[in-house]
Amino acid sequence: MHQDDTKPSNGVTPMRVTLLFSVNDRVGVLDEALKAINALNVSLTRIESRPCKTSDWDYDFFVDFFTKNLETVQTVVQSLEKVSGNVKVVSTGASNSAGNSVPWFPRKKSDLDSFADKVLEMGEELSSDHPGAKDPAYRARRAEITKIARTYQHGQPLPRIDYTEQEVATWGTVFRKLTAMYPTHACREHQYVFPLLIENCGYREDNIPQIDDISRFLRECTGFTLRPVMGLLTSRDFLNGLAFRVFHSTQYIRHHSKPLYTPEPDCCHELLGHVPLFANQDFADFSQEIGLASLGASDEDIEKLATIYWFTVEFGLCRQGEEVKAFGAGLLSSFGELEYCLSEEPTKVPFDPSKAAVQKYPITEYQPVYFVAESFKDAKDKVREFARSLNRPFDVRYNPYTETVEVLDTREKVVRYAHNIKSDLQNLVNALEKVEI
Ligand SMILES: [Fe+2]
Repeated sequence: MHQDDTKPSNGVTPMRVTLLFSVNDRVGVLDEALKAINALNVSLTRIESRPCKTSDWDYDFFVDFFTKNLETVQTVVQSLEKVSGNVKVVSTGASNSAGNSVPWFPRKKSDLDSFADKVLEMGEELSSDHPGAKDPAYRARRAEITKIARTYQHGQPLPRIDYTEQEVATWGTVFRKLTAMYPTHACREHQYVFPLLIENCGYREDNIPQIDDISRFLRECTGFTLRPVMGLLTSRDFLNGLAFRVFHSTQYIRHHSKPLYTPEPDCCHELLGHVPLFANQDFADFSQEIGLASLGASDEDIEKLATIYWFTVEFGLCRQGEEVKAFGAGLLSSFGELEYCLSEEPTKVPFDPSKAAVQKYPITEYQPVYFVAESFKDAKDKVREFARSLNRPFDVRYNPYTETVEVLDTREKVVRYAHNIKSDLQNLVNALEKVEI
């Protein structure tokens, strides 16, 4: 292994490798680990530490380096194992056509655990103009709920929150106001699912539903699941979650002094606005399509996809016969904007991902422009087409059996994929022959 192993040559582009190793709080242990890597002539391009989430270790370190050779990865792992009892290869990424490294992305559902404490705004850190900023009891409650989200790991039971009477009363006010508007303002898919949530997941004015019950219900409908989150994730992390049919949901609630206002997502926004449509197959497929396009995308493309998400999943309208109705969660969870968006005041244009991707928008006031989708299926097809224009050197496929993302970057993988399709096509032909038309 040589230093120039990390630079492109002879047409072979290097891959970015991310390793995780855990250590205890012992003086000099990090120094030993870095010396072991340096001795192999490997240059690190990133080193990041986080407090470890399990009790076995004190700190997790994430390190990145470039190499063209998988043997190098193996050698680095073996060297680190002399210092740390827990070494894992988190990812080995490809490079794009410009020779730039492809950003790390999750390959399996449990990889989403690494997003848990990477939030832009943490639930308990409130800005000075937040309605709960000067309420110590509210802040303490937020800290308690966000701590549960930070320590949650894939595979554990979803945390159930014992909501207080005051929190339930806040929920009740929002629930009453919004559900009165859904029959006239919400899209038919939202209206179809809502009674099922009442029946199966405890949606009631006097009860805040638990994400555990909802996640179970959604899994049976479309394979979508929920996981708790401390606060706002980066667009990349949030969209990456959708690729696995995972929606990150906050569990805390807005401040009781202003039940019809929240400056950030809370459980009212997630459970009333977002959740119902994840039970719809076409909407679930559409959401996952945006997620899959985000895996390994450049920062520029992530911004485009996040803007498309904004104008659809958050603030989308859709045509239903002669009428236009709301399907965006930002609308379905906001009493004022739900009324406004269907009025004559804002501009409404047909949904076109290439236009939506670059449309400017305000985040603290009502939207001046809304995009109107023909249907969720049509929106999914358009987003898939748009994703083809993004600068990514590989395609991906979600494997629902293993809940992993396969990168279709070798002939062998593409051929295996083709064989799967062939077998599905044979099933389809058999089924068609048996169905009376
Ligand atoms: Fe949202």
